[in-house]
Amino acid sequence: MTQPIDFFWFIPTSGDGAYLGSSDLNRAPSYDYLSQVAVAVDRLGYTGVLLPTGAGCEESFVMAAALAPVTRRLKFLVAIRPGVASPAYYARLSSTLDRVSNGRLLLNIVVGGNPAELKGDGVFLPHDQRYGHAEEFFDVFEDLLATGSANLDGEHIKAIGATLGYPPVQSPRPPLYFGGSSDAGIDFAAGRVDKYLTWGEPPAQVAEKIDRVRAAAREEGREVSFGIRLHFIVRETEEEAWAAADRLISKLDDETIAAAAKHFNKESDSVGQKRMFALHQGSRDRLEVSPNLWAGVGLVRAGAGTALVGSPESVAARLREYQEIGIDTVIGSGYPHLEESYRVAELLFPALGIERGEQAGGFLNEFGQKRVFAGGSHGGNLRAAS
Ligand SMILES: Cc1cc2nc3c(=O)[nH]c(=O)nc-3n(C[C@H](O)[C@H](O)[C@H](O)COP(=O)(O)O)c2cc1C
Repeated sequence: MTQPIDFFWFIPTSGDGAYLGSSDLNRAPSYDYLSQVAVAVDRLGYTGVLLPTGAGCEESFVMAAALAPVTRRLKFLVAIRPGVASPAYYARLSSTLDRVSNGRLLLNIVVGGNPAELKGDGVFLPHDQRYGHAEEFFDVFEDLLATGSANLDGEHIKAIGATLGYPPVQSPRPPLYFGGSSDAGIDFAAGRVDKYLTWGEPPAQVAEKIDRVRAAAREEGREVSFGIRLHFIVRETEEEAWAAADRLISKLDDETIAAAAKHFNKESDSVGQKRMFALHQGSRDRLEVSPNLWAGVGLVRAGAGTALVGSPESVAARLREYQEIGIDTVIGSGYPHLEESYRVAELLFPALGIERGEQAGGFLNEFGQKRVFAGGSHGGNLRAAS
């Protein structure tokens, strides 16, 4: 039997809501709300959480540092954008965060795919050169974390006599994750990263990408493992799940879809983003792009644009198909993230053989007997199941 998939969740640091493309029932990414999500998923048995980066997000390292003390086991997959600060500074941030979280840091390398946004951060390099810059950045960064010192007089990075005072808990460094689909991105991944991440494309397209990354890594004498980023709409029945998917885009108008399509095509130079857009091409007509895989989120959301929609059994079956082609990690999300984290843990984890955390329902009394909710008097008392 294959290992249960490693299940991560997402911290919505740019905001959350119940309807895409609408301001109805939306939520600000306040620290109080984000810590509710983090505490919930920590207790529900998720492996970790992804914290994104971007001009519209709360800062990923700071937010992870603030969430570490309120969580117990959760790992923090923190986005690191090499262009925006020096490798020595990021090495200090990473080592300190790994130390204060007691070895719970994972890093998601984000080179960036929106030139207009990158210019705001002072990054003016064209697409492939951003990967050249990232190579030099991580040469210095990795040397510092592993040995405490680094030197490089490179084309993009100059670090002369760089030192790091305190090593990370994880040796030689926290694991490196990365998701980029261009040829330059795949070359970068092959030579350096531990886990390659893909957005939720249909299984055949994911299999083709995995084969490419695997072959490129082998040429470098390396092994890479694989993860997938997906939204989830899981309900007790198929009908309820598809109704929830329809509801999620029920307030999304055509103008908003057209504006998003323009943004994806004009402003982004990310190959991964182009592959996501190609699944729906800005049209809400054919959104089930492969069985149970729905591209509705990507009509307006940049990046992760697909959701697995269905009953626990059908969504688990689809995830097993991804596992068979080499995926061992899922980074999930759902709108709103707090409520959907419960649905996924309570409905889907059992179907995937994932051990639920203490808060994920189905609990036993202290004598190991099953309990029935509201089975007694006093509204909500529990009695042992007969
Ligand atoms: C799982 C995953 C998470 C990502 N997170 C971010 C992010 O937080 N911020 C961002 O700007 N890009 C993010 N990206 C985009 C990529 O890191 C990358 O910069 C972009 O796709 C350009 O690379 P490409 O042209 O090689 O595809 C993410 C991609 C994946 C697959």
